[in-house]
Order: sequence, then C-alpha cells, then structure tokens
Amino acid sequence: MSVRNHTLYTSDPAEAATVIRRSGTVAFPTETVYGLGTNAFDAVAVAKIFAAKRRPADNPLIAHIAHLDQIEQLTSEVGISARRLIGVFFPGPLTLVLRKSAAVPLIATAGLETVGVRMPRLPLAQNFLRACDTPVVAPSANLSGRPSPTTWQAVAEDLDERIDCILQGDATEIGLESTVVDCSGDSPLILRQGAVTLAELQSVVPDITLHVVTDSERAKSPGLMHRHYSPTGEVRLVDAIEFATGHRDAAYIGICGVSGSGEFGYALLCGSIREYAFSVFEFFRECDRRGISTIQCEKVERTGIGAALMDRLERAAAG
Ligand code: TXA
Ligand code: MG
Repeated sequence: MSVRNHTLYTSDPAEAATVIRRSGTVAFPTETVYGLGTNAFDAVAVAKIFAAKRRPADNPLIAHIAHLDQIEQLTSEVGISARRLIGVFFPGPLTLVLRKSAAVPLIATAGLETVGVRMPRLPLAQNFLRACDTPVVAPSANLSGRPSPTTWQAVAEDLDERIDCILQGDATEIGLESTVVDCSGDSPLILRQGAVTLAELQSVVPDITLHVVTDSERAKSPGLMHRHYSPTGEVRLVDAIEFATGHRDAAYIGICGVSGSGEFGYALLCGSIREYAFSVFEFFRECDRRGISTIQCEKVERTGIGAALMDRLERAAAG
C-alpha cells in the first residue's frame, strides 16, 4: 500500500474524531506515549496503520476505549482476575489481553484470538475516544523500530504525510508504554512491564507472574520479539557515570551526575528514576538528530518504574 497523505494538525479532539469516523488514521496523546489510532472494527482502516508505521503484520494492536461498556464489544470473555484489575487500574497505563469478540478483525490482533484492551486516563485522550464513538486500535505512533513518541513533534518526525491527523497535546506524563497483562489463560501473566508495577498488580491478583519470553513461546506476545525502542547509535548499559568515559560522539543518560558528563557530546542527568523514564525515548531521538554513535545509559534499580525502564534499556541495547 502506498502511503502519501496530507496530515491535519489540530488540538481539537472533536475534529480529530471526525477523521476516525471517515476511516482515517489519527495520532493522539495518552499518559504513556502517543498512539496511532483508527476504528477497531474497520479492517481496511486498520491496514493503513500497519502501512504507515511499516509495522510487521505479526505485531498485534491495543484497542483503546472511553467507556467500560466498550469492553463487551471487543471481548467474548472477561474472567475474575481481569474484572479485578479493571476495577482498580482502569482508566490508566494498563493493557489487558482478553479473548476477542468476532467483531474485532484478525488483522488488528495479528491473527490472535485475543485482543489487548486499554482505557487511557489522560483527559484529552478520553475526550477524543468519546467523540470517536468506537474503540480505537492504536500502536505507539512511531515508525516501527524507532523509540516511542512522547511529544506530537516526535510523531511528526516519523509520520508527517504518512497519516491523516495529529492531535496535538502535551508531552506524555509517563513516557514508557503501558504494562501488558495476559488475562486470557488460567492465571494472569505480565507480558510487558510498564508504569503499573508487579507489586501493585500482585496486591490485586496475587497469582500474577512475570512472563519470561523463551524461544518456544515466541507467539505469546509477538511484538516483544521485534527490534524496538532503538536509536541509530549503539546503546551500552553502564553502572554509573564514574566508570563511563565520554567523547564528542558519545552521549550519556542517567541519574548519577558525579563527574565526567562534560566529556560527552550530549549528556542528560535526571533528578529521579521517574524523570529518567519520562525522558529516555526523547533522549534517544535527540541522539539520532545529533548523529551520536555511542549512547551510555546508567543502569537503575528494578523497583517501581525502574523495572520497566530497565526492560526498555535492555531491548535498546540488544537492538
Ligand atoms: O502505552 C501503550 O501501550 C501505548 C499507547 C498508545 O496505548 N501503545 C503501545 O502499543 O505501546 P504498541 O503497539 O507499541 O505495543 C502493543 C504491544 C504489542 O507489541 C504486544 O506486545 C502487546 O502489546 N499486545 C497487544 N495485543 C496483544 C495480544 N492480543 N496478545 C499479546 N500481546 C499483545
Ligand atoms: Mg510500539
């Protein structure tokens, strides 16, 4: 499919929603990252998302909702663990994988009989989704393989003239993608870590476990196997800036600004792990803009959002 579109820029959620109602593609902000959405039930529109992002067809999309009643349209079964999680964490940065209804086209779920469902809590996202009057499937609004966008300008960098509309909001509050929990089996499994932590989830569904992806289980969350979050430069994880040596073509991000940051071509020192998580994808993009060849990222403790941050850093380093 050829992709060449005029892109409408607007900060009006109602105007953006008219584009969805005409089977168009709209990038919109959420509290995690910007998503690229279209009507979940329109297979032809969904194909435009894969084409615009150059997304592999085996990577399923998340359906975004404005009302809890929309879960019924998307799913065929919602078990007790899912109900509990919905009660506590919806709206918010949590995606639940549930058995899909017949109305959801297989192109949206990459052929799986399950669908990811999420209800964003950002007011602008909610206003937009309410005006769309249909669930909206949306992956992150980046070209496949690039860091997820946390500003509308980052969306434009990747997708200007490839999508129909960008709903312009603020920089996203969290900066990392949602936690994904598979509730379609016997006990809930965390497929992707995010802002909702293992400890928070365990307090609601004690039998939840963290899914470790092995080769034999590649099919569970296919998207996790793809190259992801990667800047062009080589990403290295380091213990702290004292041990890192910089040069003009190198960049550094971390929370320990002990010494030596001046030797780097570009350095970003964050006040907390939360700020590090919020900044990291935009930092990767800025490294690309500056043509940085090596990127040193300080490792952090895997507590709170630190677990999700380390997951993204490790993927970026592997990419
Ligand atoms: O925070 C977020 O989750 C953002 C915003 C826009 O909502 N979206 C996002 O989408 O990060 P994306 O496409 O970049 O990641 C979706 C991932 C897939 O790669 C896959 O790992 C998992 O969610 N997923 C979605 N549907 C699934 C399913 N039916 N079974 C297993 N995993 C699924
Ligand atoms: Mg993505």
